Amino acid sequence: MRILITGGTGLIGRHLCRALLSEGHYLTVLSRRPAMVAVKCGATVQAMASLNEWLPDRTFDAVINLAGEPIVDAYWSARRKQVLRESRITLTEKLVQCIAAAKQKPATLLSGSAVGYYGDSGDMELHENAPAGNDLAAQLCVDWEAAALLAEQHDVRVCLLRTGLVLSKNGGLLERMLLPFKLGLGARLGNGRQWMSWIHIADYVASVLRLLDDDQMRGPFNMTAPQPVTNAEFTRTLAKSLHRPAFLFAPEPVLRLAMGERAALLLEGQRVLPAKLVAAGGQFKYPNLAGALDDLLHQ
Ligand SMILES: NC(=O)c1ccc[n+]([C@@H]2O[C@H](COP(=O)([O-])OP(=O)(O)OC[C@H]3O[C@@H](n4cnc5c(N)ncnc54)[C@H](OP(=O)(O)O)[C@@H]3O)[C@@H](O)[C@H]2O)c1
Repeated sequence: MRILITGGTGLIGRHLCRALLSEGHYLTVLSRRPAMVAVKCGATVQAMASLNEWLPDRTFDAVINLAGEPIVDAYWSARRKQVLRESRITLTEKLVQCIAAAKQKPATLLSGSAVGYYGDSGDMELHENAPAGNDLAAQLCVDWEAAALLAEQHDVRVCLLRTGLVLSKNGGLLERMLLPFKLGLGARLGNGRQWMSWIHIADYVASVLRLLDDDQMRGPFNMTAPQPVTNAEFTRTLAKSLHRPAFLFAPEPVLRLAMGERAALLLEGQRVLPAKLVAAGGQFKYPNLAGALDDLLHQ
């Protein structure tokens, strides 16, 4: 297949490109730094610097839309909130305009979203039909999904990737946590009762490949492992995997003072289950956290 990927240079995108190339697909990656595409995604991957390059005569069989300014990295000023929205929602709207203009439409659009869609949901188990939350992260996901779903008006099959915390060897959440944990400074966040819905990158990529291939699958998919854990359990399991203690905790008021509104990303959570993937017979190589960490940290 000829596949266009936005956000292909990112953590998930790079892993996905590798897997898609090994299956023989032809890839084009949209990037603000087109010169980096071959370096990050693979020598044979074509770069696209702007969606203006997608002229109506150009055909893609599928589009995978992962682009988005990192949500946790910087203080949520009004300007930053706008950038978070534009890099996801405005870009997705433009993508759907290109799809509408294309003489031959892609069959499939797999488009990003996050488990933050559900907002802070306490201990409730969340399947794909659970309602959306109403905080900033949830609203971002709701609007991002709505923009992508407009592609259905052009007979495109749309799958929404409600992504959990992706665990990988290089980059992302795990890399950020490793140094303090290795120093024995790993800490529970707040009361530690908030849920963390995680997924090993290999299972994430395998699930995306399944969604790409199976034309019966559409709508939202929880892209998470079947065994989410609380923050306290995540802290214990990671410390144990590194053979380090983790007696500390970061008090909620300190995190809220230091991070402002963004602290919600750490102190609140969702207990998300991959109900639709499991119902479709999806298998997880790393269903539990200890096994996933063992693979990522020790293999
Ligand atoms: N990783 C996770 O745990 C996780 C969890 C939930 C949801 N997600 C979502 O899944 C998507 C992919 O995640 P990731 O971890 O691979 O992200 P990432 O490593 O931060 O990469 C995101 C990519 O998006 C592009 N991008 C960033 N800011 C942009 C902007 N202002 N305008 C246009 N493009 C921009 C970048 O491509 P260029 O620099 O090449 O332009 C970058 O490579 C993101 O949208 C993220 O929000 C990720």
